[in-house]
Amino acid sequence: MLDAMLKIAGASREMKILSVGSGLGLFERPLVLELSALGLISQFTGVDINREANQLLRTFLEQNVQDRLHFEVRDESFENFSDQDQYDLILFNHVFEYLSAGQERWLNKALGMLKTGGQIGLYSPLHDEINFYYAKFQEELFKRSPYFSADIDGLLNSLAKIKFERQTIMGKCDLSLIARSELDPAATKLLSFLCQIDAREFDSAQLHEIRDYFLGVEADNWIAHPTDLYLIQQSG
Ligand SMILES: C[S@@+](CC[C@H](N)C(=O)[O-])C[C@H]1O[C@@H](n2cnc3c(N)ncnc32)[C@H](O)[C@@H]1O
Repeated sequence: MLDAMLKIAGASREMKILSVGSGLGLFERPLVLELSALGLISQFTGVDINREANQLLRTFLEQNVQDRLHFEVRDESFENFSDQDQYDLILFNHVFEYLSAGQERWLNKALGMLKTGGQIGLYSPLHDEINFYYAKFQEELFKRSPYFSADIDGLLNSLAKIKFERQTIMGKCDLSLIARSELDPAATKLLSFLCQIDAREFDSAQLHEIRDYFLGVEADNWIAHPTDLYLIQQSG
């Protein structure tokens, strides 16, 4: 996933990047580290409604890139976010699937915040492999159907004056951490990732039930995690 971003960065120096739904920055942290080591980024702005995650990301940036670039992490929703800056790259990394509505408004807002030639990088899961089970889990437990890349295709095809390209990235997820009988904090973290909710909220019996759910669907402890990356630009 980083490689695709580095290709964009190679085309422009001193990039200003906005990440919408930056959260803990699992993806943003290595990206910012790598780009700042190469001198390719001048500013990073994150925006997220999760204050706890924002503070952890802020601390990481303070400890690692304080003297190398200007950064800020804002505690607000993208709906309320306003900024005079124009960006070279606006990231939505696994964010659209958490919105109950408003994806088209978000895209239009981001398109209006791009510099000339700037791009939106949008990562969205395919409804397949691990994501198929995540969707099943969400539907059974919360009666909601997550947004997948097929929905993004439909949305992008309905928008005028943009061009986009898509590539599929086939990640892999190792389930062996949760295969142990003891569910330690690292295993709980992985379960949170798998079901996309904070698994620390569950008691031990519930944790084991979720664990068995995922182990029950995969025999060899590895499961594919397919994601589509969309690169979107204004056209005309
Ligand atoms: C799966 S996380 C992705 C985090 C991050 N991009 C990463 O790669 O680690 C999705 C994030 O979207 C954030 N989010 C959800 N609704 C939002 C909104 N209306 N405005 C800003 N962020 C939002 C959540 O708080 C969460 O941190």
